[in-house]
Amino acid sequence: MTKPRILVTGGTGYIGSHTVVELQQAGYPVVIIDNLSNSNREVLDGIERITGTRPDFVEGDCTDIATLRQLFADYSDIKGIINFAASKAVGESVEKPLMYYRNNLDTLINLLDLMAPNGVEGIVFSSSCTVYGEPDINPVTENTPIKKATSPYGNTKQISEDIITDFIHSGAPVKSVILRYFNPVGAHPSSEIGELPNGVPNNLVPYLTQTAMGIRKELSVFGDDYDTPDGSCIRDFIDVVDLAKAHVTAIGRMLSGKSESAIEIFNLGTGRGVSVLELIDAFESATGVKVPHRIAPRRAGDIEKVWADPTRANTILGWKADTPIADTMLNAWHWQQRLRQRGIM
Ligand code: NAD
Ligand code: UFG
Repeated sequence: MTKPRILVTGGTGYIGSHTVVELQQAGYPVVIIDNLSNSNREVLDGIERITGTRPDFVEGDCTDIATLRQLFADYSDIKGIINFAASKAVGESVEKPLMYYRNNLDTLINLLDLMAPNGVEGIVFSSSCTVYGEPDINPVTENTPIKKATSPYGNTKQISEDIITDFIHSGAPVKSVILRYFNPVGAHPSSEIGELPNGVPNNLVPYLTQTAMGIRKELSVFGDDYDTPDGSCIRDFIDVVDLAKAHVTAIGRMLSGKSESAIEIFNLGTGRGVSVLELIDAFESATGVKVPHRIAPRRAGDIEKVWADPTRANTILGWKADTPIADTMLNAWHWQQRLRQRGIM
């Protein structure tokens, strides 16, 4: 049976591009909309080299409802949406809150508004473990209490979850799966696509691979006096391809009418907490490349430790993040090397 078309917003971005690869490999026709504010067109070449298919692409902004109306008119066969399009830099969101609220919330509201009139049945939404803040107990389940957001970015995720919930509770004839990602890292094993941070990376793995490459002098480990076994923070680092695969499972389940309720929420993590120092060790062992690093003061606003209980996703979606951390680190390193070969970084 032919699979329904999926609209992937933000599909040239980091997680979006990996998801488009998995969707196409599973037989879904895809159309991407992206305004290229944090990605570029060459990503489409990478997707095509991996899958043999170039996804349809609309360069456009999801906050512009006229653009979306036109897209739905041009693609009347869209049955599902995966909404990645958002601004995601925590620090920038503190500086430019209105930009974050406008971009992330207008995008979601426009999409929800246009679903039913255009025959779209379901939407998968990219949320984040940031909604749990600093949890009292780890690992966190989907029922762990939501804490007040510590940044406008985090607040857009909480508000987005509320908007989806209120909309569906109003009786709107659509379904949604909310996916709370832990820390996505790594790159496609082909090294054709990966993460392309703008400027100096804020996130650990791109900073680490750039340091290993000699682009950065040393990696600062933000704090070694936390209440953790080695004193550095603990996260649940999930391989981006594992994460991408969960979207294929989630949208398939939703569109084939198997959801238990109109809104389902899943944590997407490995269930394994890894400290910052352990991750550096894992990179060095996997690649044989040393990463110059030093202990630096704590970074303001950091969570001490958070990792997922992914039991719901494991049992209900039948999905599991099982890429070994060594493979993830190798893929991240190969991607960094590919960027160097291509003269990008
Ligand atoms: P990304 O920046 O690589 O991808 C987002 C894409 O959306 C970019 O290509 C950007 O150009 C596009 N975009 C932004 N605003 C747009 C708009 N108004 N219209 C059209 N396109 C727009 O980010 P990512 O890491 O792939 O994240 C994808 C989603 O997952 C985001 O919603 C993010 O908040 C969420 N998320 C990411 C992480 C993470 O650590 N990477 C963790 C939790 C949740
Ligand atoms: N870290 C360092 N040195 C660095 C960069 C990071 O020690 O140069 C540490 C941080 O202090 C933190 C850990 O590595 O302890 C992970 O930091 P990241 O910035 O990679 O990730 P965060 O967990 O802080 O945040 C990420 C995303 C957020 C998202 C959150 C939860 O950046 O957008 O995961 O999904 F909200």
